[in-house]
Amino acid sequence: MMIIIFGSTGDLTKRKLIPALFSLYQRKIIGADFPIVCVGRKRLSKNDFIDHLELKKFIPEYDPKDDSRFIDMIYYYTVDLDCADCTGFKKQIGSLEKKHKTSDKIFYLALPSTLFKKVVDLIKSCGLTVGKGYSRVVFEKPIGHDLRSAVELNDHVSCVFPEKSIYRIDHYLGKELVQNIMALRFSNAIFNEVWNNKFIDHVQITNSETVGIEDRGDYYEKTGAIKDMFQNHLLQILSFIVMCPPKSISADDIRDEKIKVLRSLDPVRAEDIVVGQYDSGFVKGRNVLPYRSESEVDPKSKTETYAAMKLFVNNGRWKGVPFYLRTGKRLAMRYTEVNVVLKDVSCNMFCKSGVKEDHTPNIMTIRIQPDEGIALTFNAKHPGSKLILHPVVMDFCHACHFGFNVPQAYEVLLHQIIIGDQTLFTRRDEIEESWRYIDPIVKMVGKKKRSFPNYEPGSFGPKEADKLIGRDGREWILPKELRTEHGHNI
Ligand SMILES: NC(=O)c1ccc[n+]([C@@H]2O[C@H](COP(=O)([O-])OP(=O)(O)OC[C@H]3O[C@@H](n4cnc5c(N)ncnc54)[C@H](OP(=O)(O)O)[C@@H]3O)[C@@H](O)[C@H]2O)c1
Repeated sequence: MMIIIFGSTGDLTKRKLIPALFSLYQRKIIGADFPIVCVGRKRLSKNDFIDHLELKKFIPEYDPKDDSRFIDMIYYYTVDLDCADCTGFKKQIGSLEKKHKTSDKIFYLALPSTLFKKVVDLIKSCGLTVGKGYSRVVFEKPIGHDLRSAVELNDHVSCVFPEKSIYRIDHYLGKELVQNIMALRFSNAIFNEVWNNKFIDHVQITNSETVGIEDRGDYYEKTGAIKDMFQNHLLQILSFIVMCPPKSISADDIRDEKIKVLRSLDPVRAEDIVVGQYDSGFVKGRNVLPYRSESEVDPKSKTETYAAMKLFVNNGRWKGVPFYLRTGKRLAMRYTEVNVVLKDVSCNMFCKSGVKEDHTPNIMTIRIQPDEGIALTFNAKHPGSKLILHPVVMDFCHACHFGFNVPQAYEVLLHQIIIGDQTLFTRRDEIEESWRYIDPIVKMVGKKKRSFPNYEPGSFGPKEADKLIGRDGREWILPKELRTEHGHNI
């Protein structure tokens, strides 16, 4: 098998793909018979390309002496997609097939999505998918920028690759704690039994980033937080939280259940959406520019860098349970977590007898990143002669239990592609369904009056987002570091 990476001079290849392939090489999942064919527009010699990868910086354990065999696996070819020479490229791939005695290929498109169709056309016109061996193609997000463009791209790709050969990456699905949601829900009676509207009061899903848009102004201006994060990562996490038990753990049974979730989402009401854009200010002691002064950003930009919304799942299991989702850039802390808040039953008898001084509803916290783990907040009796309630937290730390060397998301995903398992990749209908849901939200947000910028860097987002959840008598649950040992927000 070989992997052919288009866009190999880009950031993704250097920071994620090559380090992930190196890890797979170290774990002996790939070896000398697995050429890593890097395709880029720049004219570079192999040595220049290897220097450009900055292996020592991105793979701290890399040792040029011991790991020279890994370098031997890497090839670099120049192909400008605007004037690609098919004959030359086909010949190069053909000679690698002979040399490594393999015709199986993975095409990885680590490129701007505007080039996806062009690369697919190149693969087709070079005849790289015909003949012996199988071909798989991998797409990075975004798959389209709305329903129409996603359908168009999917149609285009499906003329060359069957759905079973298409791997659409949502790297959140490669994260251990996202995959853990199914294990947690479906293999533990304690959680399985309460996972419905009889016991659950509400659910919060938070993705909070401290970084701004970095050097992606051009991309972000056309995208914004809703398309960049909600359409993919947040809806994927939501699907795992909400889905019914699949018939089996096969990729299609799991994806069949996830798509049912997307189809059962009620349209979001305008008053249940808050958007924001960051101003200038301080993050981690550093002065940062407002979004509107970032490079390649319109000084009057109305693009949102923050979004929060309340939504409902319209099925028997979840009817009436609000889901509060939020994501934003330049916020106080970097973390992604889910909080499933159960109904507060502590008042049943304790209130009446006046022994309930401090209490909490049960909260199940799934920390997806960076401090992976699962915590359960519950009430216990405070020591002493009186029966006084006292909230406590039971905390499972993933790294303490399984060690720090768990594979990173891209390593997991590449491994799945190599073995041909599509479970952690989004199927065509999932992508299209998520755009069908998101398109009207984007339209509605476009019509909303906005007085941007409306939140300070280093904060937890605009005040309106606190009001959104506060209206229902609830509050956003802060990350572990900002909660007391009893699980309350500080
Ligand atoms: N970076 C991340 O962490 C990340 C995370 C999630 C998803 N993604 C997605 O992954 C993809 C790649 O992202 P990236 O950050 O690596 O992008 P990038 O740093 O901008 O790199 C883009 C690559 O595309 C190549 N390219 C552009 N126009 C070309 C043309 N006409 N012909 C041939 N090659 C061309 C560039 O070659 P030159 O260097 O020669 O210009 C470069 O190798 C995007 O779809 C992005 O949305 C990235």
